[in-house]
This record gives sequence, C-alpha cells and structure tokens, in this order.
Amino acid sequence: MVDTAVVVAQMRQLIQLLAQHNHAYYVMDQPSISDAEYDQLFHQLKALEAEHPDMVQADTPTLRVGGTPLSKFETVTHAVPMLSLGNVFNQEDLFAFARRVEERLPNQQVQYDVELKLDGLAISLWYEQGVLVRGVTRGDGEMGEDITQNVKTIRNLPKILSNPNGQVPALLEVRGEVLIPKSGFERLNAEQEAKGDKIFANPRNAAAGSLRQLDPEIAASRPLAFYAYGIAQCVPTHELNSMHQSLQWLTQFGFAIAPRQFLCESIQDVQQKYEQIQQERPDLAVEIDGMVIKVDDLKQQQQLGFLSREPRWATAYKFPAEIALTTIENIDWQVGRTGILTPVARLKPVLVGGVTVSNVTLHNIGEIHRLDIHIKDQVSVYRSGDVIPKVERVWAAVRPDDAIRVFLPTHCPVCDSPVVMPEGEALARCSGGLYCAAQRIEAIRHFVSRKAMDIEGLGDRWAESLLHLNLLNDISDIYQLYAHREKLLGIEKMGEKSVQNLIDAIDGSKKTTLARFIYALGIRGVGETTARMLATTFQTLDALRQANIDELKKTPDVGDITAEWIIDFFQAKHNVEVVDRLIATGIHWDAPTAPSRQPLNGESWVLTGTLAQLNRDQATQMLQALGARVSGSVSSKTKCVVAGEKAGSKLEKAEKLGVSVISEAEFIELMAGYGQTS
Ligand code: IVH
Repeated sequence: MVDTAVVVAQMRQLIQLLAQHNHAYYVMDQPSISDAEYDQLFHQLKALEAEHPDMVQADTPTLRVGGTPLSKFETVTHAVPMLSLGNVFNQEDLFAFARRVEERLPNQQVQYDVELKLDGLAISLWYEQGVLVRGVTRGDGEMGEDITQNVKTIRNLPKILSNPNGQVPALLEVRGEVLIPKSGFERLNAEQEAKGDKIFANPRNAAAGSLRQLDPEIAASRPLAFYAYGIAQCVPTHELNSMHQSLQWLTQFGFAIAPRQFLCESIQDVQQKYEQIQQERPDLAVEIDGMVIKVDDLKQQQQLGFLSREPRWATAYKFPAEIALTTIENIDWQVGRTGILTPVARLKPVLVGGVTVSNVTLHNIGEIHRLDIHIKDQVSVYRSGDVIPKVERVWAAVRPDDAIRVFLPTHCPVCDSPVVMPEGEALARCSGGLYCAAQRIEAIRHFVSRKAMDIEGLGDRWAESLLHLNLLNDISDIYQLYAHREKLLGIEKMGEKSVQNLIDAIDGSKKTTLARFIYALGIRGVGETTARMLATTFQTLDALRQANIDELKKTPDVGDITAEWIIDFFQAKHNVEVVDRLIATGIHWDAPTAPSRQPLNGESWVLTGTLAQLNRDQATQMLQALGARVSGSVSSKTKCVVAGEKAGSKLEKAEKLGVSVISEAEFIELMAGYGQTS
C-alpha cells in the first residue's frame, strides 16, 4: 500500500525546493545549486509524478499542457492594449522628458521608478481565480497570439498564485518580458550546435523562436524565463499606490522581477543610475538594451495619461549602439523572392554589444559606393536599434594595397541569368523570373507563409528538399504533392505523421480568402493591406485580372507603380497559367464583404464577464467580421456591451453611461441574424 500522505509530502517538498532554487536563480540572481542538480530534482519530481499520476500537484513546475502541437495560434484581442514606449538616448532628452512630466504635475513631488529594459518579448498573462488561464504575445499591441501552451512551460512563472500574506485577485492580468538568460542562451546554442541545429544570433531571437513553437515540448526544452513589470488589470482593484510597490506586490505571488530596480527622487538621480547600470550591464544575468523610467505614483500616471500609442509617464532610456572594428572578408550577392540582388558583406567575426556579428547587409550597390567599401577594408560595425548590424564607416586611410573594388555582378549568382538594373532604380534584379531557383524557393516560402496560404511547416522545413526532388516547379505543384507520398517519405526526418500533416495542411489551405490568395501570389508591391484592398474593391479574381490600369489606381493603397506591376503580373503568360492551375486544384473563398457594406461598421463593442457558450475569441471574430471594433473599456462611444456571467465594473459603467447591454443569448441571436455562428 502506498501511503498517499507520504507521496504528497515528497512532491510538495520537491516543488518547494525547486521554487526556492528558481527564486535564487531568477530573482536574487544568485544560483543556489548547479543546473545539473536542479535537473536532478526536477526529474525526481517527474518520476514520482509518473508513478502516481493521480497525485500530481496542481502547481507542479513539470506541468506540460495539452501536449499535442497546435496547427496555428489563435488571435486574441487585448482587453487593455499593449502600448510601446517613447525613447530617449541622452541626458538632454531625459531631462526634457522629466520637464514635460513635471510641467503637467505642477506643485507635485515626482519620484521615478527605474527598471531594466529587458531585451526579450512582451507578453500578457491572465490569471482567473489565481489560475494561469492564458498567455498572449504583444502582437501589434491591439491583438496578439494565444501562446498559453508555451507560456505554461516557463519554469519560473507561477501557474497558480498563492499569497501567504493575503488574498488572490479574482482576475489578474500581468505584463512582463519573456527572455532567455545569458547562461541559458550559451547552453542552448551549444546544444543546438551539437545536434547540428540552427544557432541563434542572440538571446532575444532564441526566446522569440521558442515562444513561436507550435509544439509546447520544444518551448519546454528552452530555458525561458519571465519577468513581470506591470499590472494591466486587477479585480477587485488592488490598493497599491506606486509602481515599485506593484512590482514588490507581484513577487509575493511568486513572480520574478528584473534583478535591479530603483526609486529615484530626482531626474539627476535617474541619470546616475543609468551610468551605473551601463557599467553593470556585462555582469547581469540577462540582456538589457537600456532602462525604463516610469513615474512611480500610479495616480500621477493616470493624470499624465497617454499621447497616441505611448504613455506620457514612461520612457525608455536606450544604451548607445555599440561599435566594433573588423575586416570585410568578402561580398556575396543574395537573390530574393522578387529577384532583387542584395550584397552581404562577410566579416571577420566580431563581438558587437555581446553578439557575434559575421554578416552585414549592404542593401544595394549604391550603398557600397556611398560607403566606398572594398573587400579587405577595415570597417566600424554597429548594431542599429541593438539588433541589426550595420557598417558605420570605412577606414579608407588604412586600406591595404590588395583591397578589391566591388562591382555589381553581370549574371545572377544562382541561375546565371543576366542581371538588370533599370535606369533610375537603386536595385538590381535577376532577370531569371521563376526559372531562378532562388526566386522559386522564395516564391514558395511566401506563398505558404502564415499571412498567405498558411501551410504550416512547408516553408521553413520542407521547401528546399521538395525543390531538390524536383517536386515543385512552381507554386501550383504544392497541390500535387499528395500524389508523391513515397518520395516525401524518403526525405530525411519526414515520417508518416509529418507527411500526413503536410498533406492535411495543404488540403486545409484550399479554403482561404481572396485577399490571402492575392497576397500569396507575391505580386511586386502587393503586401497584405494592398491585397485586402484589392479583394474588397474587385470582389472576384476575374475582375482583378481584367482590371485596367485606371481601375487599379482607384483602389486605395495602390499607386501608379504598383498598378503597373499588377498589370505586368497578369500579363505574363507563365503567371496566368500558374494562377489557373491553382484555381483548378480547388482553392476557393467566400465572396469578400466590402467594408462600407458591413452592418456594424466602425462600432465599438465591449465583451465583459464570462461567456458560457462562446469564447472571447469567437465573439471577437464575429464582431470583427461585421466591421465592429472590440474594445477593452466602456465609454460613451461604446455601441453595446455584451455581458456574460459575473460581469463587474464594465457593466456598471455601461449602465451609468446609458450604453445598451445585451446578454450572451441575445448576442448569439443577433449574430445569427447576420449569418455569424460559432
Ligand atoms: S513597461 C506602457 N517595463 O519595452 C508601457 N517595458 O518599448 C509598457 N520592456 O514592449 C512597457 N523592459 O517589451 C516596460 N521594465 C520594463 C520593460 C519593458 C522591457 C519592453 C516591453 C515593451 C517595450 C516598450
């Protein structure tokens, strides 16, 4: 007989130990045990749980949710938008920021909360009754992606809130940054290298790549960490008065916060902390790209409010881009999807702001001439916005005698077709069209990408192998792949399941929208927005194909040049054939709705409380499909509030303002009237 109490006690003890070590590592920045020892404890707990699955504790750090990979992320509207910050780069700008703040708060004492600007990805976490129910990326600030499965694998993030000192809020939305600490990053890259997998350029990319995995097991294997820096919503409202208190309050629930935080009495004091942090930057466990300065008092923050998309009460104080000296070893020409040739300088690898830089793009031949770059030149390289490396200047005075001048190649390095550069244009292009393998693979990658036909896995994983096997002569061949099952199975790492998933994804992509299809064709100048405009304007593909230049130019977002490119595209015989073949495979869409005819065009709706039959995303999508905007807060401009169960302050506010309120059942009926069902 197993003694339940003993097993549970063992589990609780391991959970507590792991939590303590996590705290020491992430919060105190002082690891108390080695990684190997941590892993040992972790596996001990896992083994115990495997033996007694019925006793697994709800707050176990081993928890892996779902387990089955998703086919794509759901889009979620942020109840409170995730805004960005303004930037300052020097003392003068910083003081000007403080002046603007202080002028708006006459006769008030202002204190500044100074935090590290963590270099990761902003996410939002929802806790209902203390349980983590949702994690969402920042996205465009209004809408993000639901990455709950991945977020739940982050070790230092509380899945259940417990507060030894008080109650747990009914709803808590915490904002913060997901990143990979420097040590974890090195380990991860060493492992990637050993496996022959892709090396990440910096911790930020590694964190972003890990969060974007559809399979939570991959995210779980990455050393991600979460640091909280704000509260977006709290019900019932908290009694906190200041930013620094808010962060301390969050730590009670088990959230990690960044390893430094200061409360400054004056802006001079802030400047001093900036200099101090810059000195300490290399010793920090995490990558930062500056500091964030926030007015500490929450009432003052409210008084200051926002200016367009940025708070007036906060700013980022960025570190200057770091510069390093190195040598240009060679210049390669890369050919992009539309045939554009881009020169890429291969550098002697050099550390710039903690990241090894070995390539830098030079944009075009004009840029090479402007900077007067020769192969073998010494150059200063910096990372702009701390991410993309750029050549700042060439040290021509120390140019070696055997330095080599750079010319635009006369023939494409991929297909050997002649390179053309029309008069007055900055960009050179390969004339090989779809004959050029570089253009073909990019055309395929673009066609299957998320915002186009959204065929998961094909672009990044299989496209190259499929081209080598001669299975993709053009994009329409994607829809013939099902007939080549045997060949697909021959591709390395392509098992029965992957092949089936790929074929299913291809089949699933046949139902699409006209806008996506137009975008997927990769017509020059036609991005996502233009494609949407073309779809709503012309309504059918045939109408678009037959449109003349004047009709095209009348479309919002389509200028003279794009209009010509669209005409060129549909005049090329090859393209017409490919489009016809694509349609013949059964690709189809519902007729697009013109925005002017949308019944709820421009209306602002609010969803509040718990919906029983629909989830928020479904309700949001229905409203958006009818042209409405879903907002997180009620104002006199709100058209209607849909109140689910336990609707709280938003319902009260709506009633006070006389805004109409409907129940979920009424909403469903109304939507059904517009042809929207879940
Ligand atoms: S506060 C409305 N605090 O910086 C203000 N942001 O440019 C919300 N970030 O997207 C942001 N560390 O990803 C805040 N301590 C910190 C931060 C921080 C990093 C990032 C965050 C945000 C970006 C704003």
